[in-house]
Amino acid sequence: MTSPNPGTAMTQDELKALVGRAALDYLEPGQIIGVGTGSTVNCFIDALAQYPGRIAAAVSSSEASTQRLRAHGIPVLDANEVEELAVYIDGADEIDPRGYMIKGGGAALTREKIVAAMARRFVCIADQSKWVQTLGRYPLPVEVIPMAARRLIRQFAALGGEARVRQRDGAPLITDNGQHILDVYGLQITDPPAFESLVNDWPGVVTVGVFAHQRAHVCLLGTPEGVRTIHFATARDDA
Ligand code: 5RP
Repeated sequence: MTSPNPGTAMTQDELKALVGRAALDYLEPGQIIGVGTGSTVNCFIDALAQYPGRIAAAVSSSEASTQRLRAHGIPVLDANEVEELAVYIDGADEIDPRGYMIKGGGAALTREKIVAAMARRFVCIADQSKWVQTLGRYPLPVEVIPMAARRLIRQFAALGGEARVRQRDGAPLITDNGQHILDVYGLQITDPPAFESLVNDWPGVVTVGVFAHQRAHVCLLGTPEGVRTIHFATARDDA
């Protein structure tokens, strides 16, 4: 695809639409698939809606995606009704050359990690702005039990990060799971699997937004030259 406006570069939204449509190639008729959350996934859902019956049903990672899927007439199942998913389609806030990601910009990281763990294959759809060499430029989302927030802010400070409680309309944002989000600035995550395991062990952490144990198998990266498909050869051998 080229820009709809000849002579101009594709916008970020156009790149998101491009990879949202490209993800349709990773679906087989009759499958139950996992669906992530965010503006790139919204492009995927809207593209999927143009092919009624293309999938049997979806397991969704957020109330927002559930609403959008159902509005298009796509059946949504509870995760506990399903044994395994063929594929999980989701975006990322950052993805690195090993398929490790930061996720949770849309506050859906806990359900995203659960649905990703149910899937045989994680297909990450992202525009090129998300591609990084080292995770951490994007503030790391961490879903936390509210009473642990202060202690966890101190623990991140000891690692060189500055954690802030995410706000919405002047009050802490409440996730779909009734918890809070810390956004941690200033980290350089050079060993994502070790970092994920470390933070997972801290009392009060629900989910850390590093996806190393549930890293991507494939990334469809939207670039001005088209969709670049990146396979992470040994992805998730350690999962
Ligand atoms: C939501 C996520 C999203 O995948 C991530 O924030 C990317 O969003 P977008 O596609 O809107 O850029 O992790 O929790």
